[in-house]
Amino acid sequence: MSSSAPHENKLSSDPPPLNAPPDLGTSSATNTGSKAREQHIDPLNVSGAIDENGNTLAIDYDALREKFGTPALTSAHLERFERVTGKKPHRLMRRKLFFSHRDFDSILDFYEKEGRFLLYTGRGPSSDSMHIGHAVPFLFTKELQDIFDVPLVIMMTDDEKFQFRGAEKKMDPRLFTQFAHANTKDIIALGFDVKKTFIYTDYEFIGGHFLYNISEFETLLTNNQVRGAMGFDGSTNIGCNSYPARQCVAAFASSYPELFGAPDYRPLTNPDFCELFPRQNIADIPTLIPCAIDQEPYFRLVRENCHRMHFPSPKPALILSRFLTALQGPGGKMSASDPTSAIFMSDTPNQIKNKINKYAFSGGRETREEHEKYGGNPDVDVAYTYLSYFLESDEELKEIEDAYRKGTLGTGELKKKCISVLQEFVGAFQERRAKVDDAAMRSFMKPRKLVFQGNPHATHPRGAEAANGEAQAHGEGAEDGKGLTKNQQKKLAKLKEVEERKAKKAQEKEMALRQKEGGADGAVEGGGA
Ligand code: TYM
Repeated sequence: MSSSAPHENKLSSDPPPLNAPPDLGTSSATNTGSKAREQHIDPLNVSGAIDENGNTLAIDYDALREKFGTPALTSAHLERFERVTGKKPHRLMRRKLFFSHRDFDSILDFYEKEGRFLLYTGRGPSSDSMHIGHAVPFLFTKELQDIFDVPLVIMMTDDEKFQFRGAEKKMDPRLFTQFAHANTKDIIALGFDVKKTFIYTDYEFIGGHFLYNISEFETLLTNNQVRGAMGFDGSTNIGCNSYPARQCVAAFASSYPELFGAPDYRPLTNPDFCELFPRQNIADIPTLIPCAIDQEPYFRLVRENCHRMHFPSPKPALILSRFLTALQGPGGKMSASDPTSAIFMSDTPNQIKNKINKYAFSGGRETREEHEKYGGNPDVDVAYTYLSYFLESDEELKEIEDAYRKGTLGTGELKKKCISVLQEFVGAFQERRAKVDDAAMRSFMKPRKLVFQGNPHATHPRGAEAANGEAQAHGEGAEDGKGLTKNQQKKLAKLKEVEERKAKKAQEKEMALRQKEGGADGAVEGGGA
């Protein structure tokens, strides 16, 4: 019955729980000169609080929500989700593992009315294999894409990982593009639909409207804002300071006009076309970002500043998850650089078995007798926690929980169940992964018009009657007006004309302003430090 967990937490209450739950109540500990430290969560660090005795405490998600100011995802949201989509929410939502959000209601409103939005998520490729924690937001995103039938962009931040992890170790940035390719194949093997999914690495794709958005957004962010969100200081290199603008504007549909059928202006990709100004109707498409809560600080920056762009986009909505805990127990997240902290998507069945048996923190008692007498604690048990992410049946999960609390299910049996569920999940993934070759990967990475239907019951659908770009996004062959009725073609031509006039006007206005500013203070060229 005894766990091999490295923690030896003890509670003073009776019965004496060995492997006691990390205490949630003390996570606001301040550093008083003892070992105590507050929990710390941002895109670069995830660590639970440390108590005076040096024990790592479980992450206090309520305190975190309060600190970040993100509302809870409630049962009312789940009910509304089911009403709007006609589908049961994913187990990760049902079990409140996705537990918080920003503007999730607005996204549902928009979907009910206009019938579509953009999904955006990403991965920072720090090694060539992902762990099962990284799979969590992607599994969830895939289900959202299936249910809503909307376009999805996945950003592979080879530049971010080079800046934040590789530069210090003098690693070659190109290595991170290689990691990104390996991770892209992993992500594809989770089952995304190529017709409505675009995956890119930053080093390979950024340019065009995306780069204009980055440049403009960089000027909207101050060092203080970025430092506040990311925990940087004056010694942080400028690459790290400028990176957040990239992850921010990746949330704007206007960074990817080609996905919505509007030609990219870049002469390299489209020699005969020149459209320097993005279309406001594409910028207007709202975005929903599924991710764990460590990424929230990036999106705080974009939400605070998106209205200040020349072609503003709405504030992106977020749906935020907890961290799948490290094998060693609550208080940390799995780390790609520590193989004993995580189950990897590349692990063999035997590795999975050995890691769970050897490292998974147990909420069971020290002896079988004690366990049968007092019961175990699933709330801190890593094998149970992993089951709550990967076991589909709510009923079976509940039976396991009850039996473990009662003590009729032992730690060994619980771990056995967890091992078999993870072996099945990882094994099925590896079979699909073996079939993803370079050609399949490149088909996801090709910038192209995505094909999606959105909400068939939208009350004010934005399809062919919207601007050219969106019209094309709703059907093959629409770029030349093919496949549209005469009336639709006429409307399309008219809208195109209006768009062009608007773009020209904006350009003239911009030029006039620049000239005026330049004339007023002579600051267009040169200038001091
Ligand atoms: P990265 O590579 O650190 O993580 C990829 C995604 O996985 C989530 N995540 C986890 N979720 C549950 N349990 C865990 N133990 C766990 N560890 C990581 C992360 O929150 C993330 O959603 N900067 C990003 C890449 C990125 C991105 C984005 C992520 C670019 N644009 C938009 C989300 C949304 C990164 O390094 O993720």
